[in-house]
Amino acid sequence: MQLIPSTAAVPLADTPPVRPGLGELTRDLGLVYGCDYNPEQWPREVWTEDVALMQAAGINLVTVGVFSWALLEPRPGELELDWLGDVLDLLHAGGIAVDLATPTASPPAWLGLRWPETRAVTPDGVRLSHGSRNHFCPSSPVYRERAMTIAGALVSRFASHPAVRMWHIGNEYGQVCHCDLCGEAFQAWLQRRYGTVDELNRAWGTSFWSQRYDDWAEIVPPRAAPYLINPTQALDYRRFASDQLLALYVEQRDLVRRANPAVPVTTNFMGFHPLTDYWRWAPQVDVVADDLYGDPADGDSPLRQALANDLMRGLGAGQPWLLMEQAASGVNWRAHNPPKTPGRMRLDSLRAIARGADGSCFFQWRQSAFGAERFHSALVPHAGPDTRLHRAVRAHGAELRGLGRVVGARVEARAALAFDWSSWWAAEEPAAPSERLRVLDQLLAYYRPLWRAGIAVDVVHPGMDLSGYDLVVAPQLYLVDDDGVRTLRGVVARGGVLLLGPFSGVADTDAHIRLGRFPVPFADLVGGSGEEFCPLPDGGVPVRSATLGDFRAEVWGERLRLDDGEAVATFAGGDLAGSPAVLRRRDPSGGSAWYVGTLPPQAVLDQIVSRCVVAAGVVGALGRSAGPGTVLPAGIEAFRRGAVLFLLNSATEPRDVPIGGSHRDLLTGAELSGCVRLGPDGVVALLEEASPDAS
Ligand code: GAL
Repeated sequence: MQLIPSTAAVPLADTPPVRPGLGELTRDLGLVYGCDYNPEQWPREVWTEDVALMQAAGINLVTVGVFSWALLEPRPGELELDWLGDVLDLLHAGGIAVDLATPTASPPAWLGLRWPETRAVTPDGVRLSHGSRNHFCPSSPVYRERAMTIAGALVSRFASHPAVRMWHIGNEYGQVCHCDLCGEAFQAWLQRRYGTVDELNRAWGTSFWSQRYDDWAEIVPPRAAPYLINPTQALDYRRFASDQLLALYVEQRDLVRRANPAVPVTTNFMGFHPLTDYWRWAPQVDVVADDLYGDPADGDSPLRQALANDLMRGLGAGQPWLLMEQAASGVNWRAHNPPKTPGRMRLDSLRAIARGADGSCFFQWRQSAFGAERFHSALVPHAGPDTRLHRAVRAHGAELRGLGRVVGARVEARAALAFDWSSWWAAEEPAAPSERLRVLDQLLAYYRPLWRAGIAVDVVHPGMDLSGYDLVVAPQLYLVDDDGVRTLRGVVARGGVLLLGPFSGVADTDAHIRLGRFPVPFADLVGGSGEEFCPLPDGGVPVRSATLGDFRAEVWGERLRLDDGEAVATFAGGDLAGSPAVLRRRDPSGGSAWYVGTLPPQAVLDQIVSRCVVAAGVVGALGRSAGPGTVLPAGIEAFRRGAVLFLLNSATEPRDVPIGGSHRDLLTGAELSGCVRLGPDGVVALLEEASPDAS
């Protein structure tokens, strides 16, 4: 068996043009309704009951074997695969498809005891123990070889099993190790990136604090150190750590593909996960799949989930994606875990489908009676199927069957939100002007008015082809490489609208500050420029604006001056008095660019975004009749997928939404027209009766 060397660079897009996707499953299954299934925690009699209950609930796909390594290979080289074969046979006989996992996320105790170097090391030098999960070092050749061996054993035995319709490599890749093996792999990664030590010294700026390197062998991962670590070293280690995990995924994926190229291969992403650059991962998976655990106690949970859903659609370039894991009710891993109501479970699941998912899966089928997740909810709770929760699970399965029409349907978005992991990492390195300016907070703040107006937004990488978008919003794009600069400038050159938030365009790909008046690569576009970042005193400072109304700016200011643009808002107090806070410039192309050099209150930001929406001619899901930039009733989400208009109400009161014409609700079959009333947690999936698809 051939291993990819642990130092392998993973190219951004080496995927053959036509790969099987989720369509391989949905073609006959329709929308996927599924869950993780861990039969190894239960006696065999329960397996039979499980299949019967799954059938009754409409479950059509289960992910099996994620944490089974120690049972499949109880002693090194001794395989016990028969029980898994029995599970697959049983599921297949019951008509339930399987997403078969390689069990490599949680190695058995024997691996780490016999080969301690397979266990990860923290930045403080502590080698992690077994007894939990995910304790492996991604650079350990022994771990990699053993992982490939157990994966290979499963492939040889089960690749042609008719139940296996998808492969699930590992689980939630997302850990970082700081051991010497990772240090060596990092050195090799750097050699490939920079070629010479001189070039590395330039990129890392090692003339600072006597950090110059003379040899690759002198370079170590960021570890416990007396004071601040070189920021480009830290950034490159994050890039490396993500690539290193990706190499693990790719080698197992290729093993599976060789055995059965027609079966899609995936692994589960984790939304805006801080340790994995999914722009590099997404081209390597056949199906973009996400684990999303919205917090029912968080009033912004619908907003956050919608944004994560839109990220998944963006990662897959608009292809249908799969909600791989969510909780049916409470989780066990927050400090305080209120349950989800059945209504909220349904709402969250349908939101994902509205936003491009072709399936909704849960963690997990049957609630564990023991182990660290014994208090995590599941589709069959401890109390059994005669429960409110399980009845809701069945009802949801039944209603999903009515939504076959959305399978494969695309979302048409004319607005985009630019987000990049490298930029996020570089912006939040310590020792910046303020730790209170947070990338994800900014992303949410700029996304919120678009979401409220029912405007479809794709989350995009700033360097990708943006020619399909009339409005591009970059809430805080601190680091932008030259490709990103080109494509973002191209939006305005084509007559579109570019909205840049504060602290954007500051650094280049090496995280070096771009010298000159900022935002250096965009200053001419926004018609003004800055010279000093000025975090604001607590309590904020007053800002005057005839256009937006006066407001107080908080946290962040910048010393800007007007060049050939307009000052939409101007600081009116403190040291920044008289300096523009919000800039706009109309371009001769007909496009325009905005720069927001501060943190306005949400209501003011809403107005800025709404003006950009109007200028770009972008409309929400209810169309122009509702007025571009129109805000829907509070708590209502509107989203159009193909011919189907989804309306979701996460408010605690009923809401009326004008829909015009006559529609059929695909979830209930009800005929609706004029105005639709949605109760709390209500959802409708409306197909216009006049639509050519309506028959
Ligand atoms: C995910 C994981 C599952 C389970 C779940 C609980 O992180 O993939 O195995 O642990 O969380 O919320």
